[in-house]
Amino acid sequence: MTELQAIQERHSVRKYVDRPINEKTLAELNKQIDLVNERFGLHVQYIPDEDGVFSGIVSKICGWSGIPGYIAMVGKDGDGLDELCGYAGERLVLYAQTLGLNTCWAGIFRRKSCTAKVNDGERLVLVIAIGYGVNSGHSRRSKTFSDVTDVQNMPDWFRAGVEAALLAPTARNQQKFFFTLDGDKPVAQVTGNAPFAKLDLGIVKYHFEAASGRTFE
Ligand SMILES: Cc1cc2nc3c(=O)[nH]c(=O)nc-3n(C[C@H](O)[C@H](O)[C@H](O)COP(=O)(O)O)c2cc1C
Repeated sequence: MTELQAIQERHSVRKYVDRPINEKTLAELNKQIDLVNERFGLHVQYIPDEDGVFSGIVSKICGWSGIPGYIAMVGKDGDGLDELCGYAGERLVLYAQTLGLNTCWAGIFRRKSCTAKVNDGERLVLVIAIGYGVNSGHSRRSKTFSDVTDVQNMPDWFRAGVEAALLAPTARNQQKFFFTLDGDKPVAQVTGNAPFAKLDLGIVKYHFEAASGRTFE
């Protein structure tokens, strides 16, 4: 499965088969996590959930069950950390999909049960549930193309990028993003100040870049 196929096929999954990720797959995932940490200067970790990060009231709110482990998004605290975690985390989410795993970004979890190593000056931003879903999730309601851009006569690469962004996960499916063009440079913004807005921005930018072949920098 390619990354573009993963963008099409990924959905959030909250219920998992209660079994650990197999050794070979976990090794691939950890290799990718190492690459992400090296590339983005993060301290992302895969952690088997032995301490009930998805248990108790949070599992009732979100419907979590059987989640064998999670990816903890940790990095040096600072202004850009949330967006960077969105961007880098979504790369891992899509990679996990290509490995036959399912995922769900999780803003609601038992933070005090999370055993991620967080060094001085670092912050645990949030976690991503990961494992083998009882199913592969479902497609959901989405904003339309014209809700998220007002560019006319757009190049094909821009159209492909926006279409992929509409398939990206966002907190509570809020999809509060907007794409424009500045000359031939894409520009992405989040509208409003909702919780997780910056994470969402990083996530949708990752989808846009993967499908358009263009970057925001
Ligand atoms: C930053 C972020 C935080 C999220 N937190 C939660 C959460 O705490 N509980 C939950 O059930 N889903 C959570 N989600 C998943 C979203 O609800 C989901 O991505 C959205 O409804 C779109 O559905 P899809 O991922 O299947 O496309 C989160 C997603 C993002 C991007």
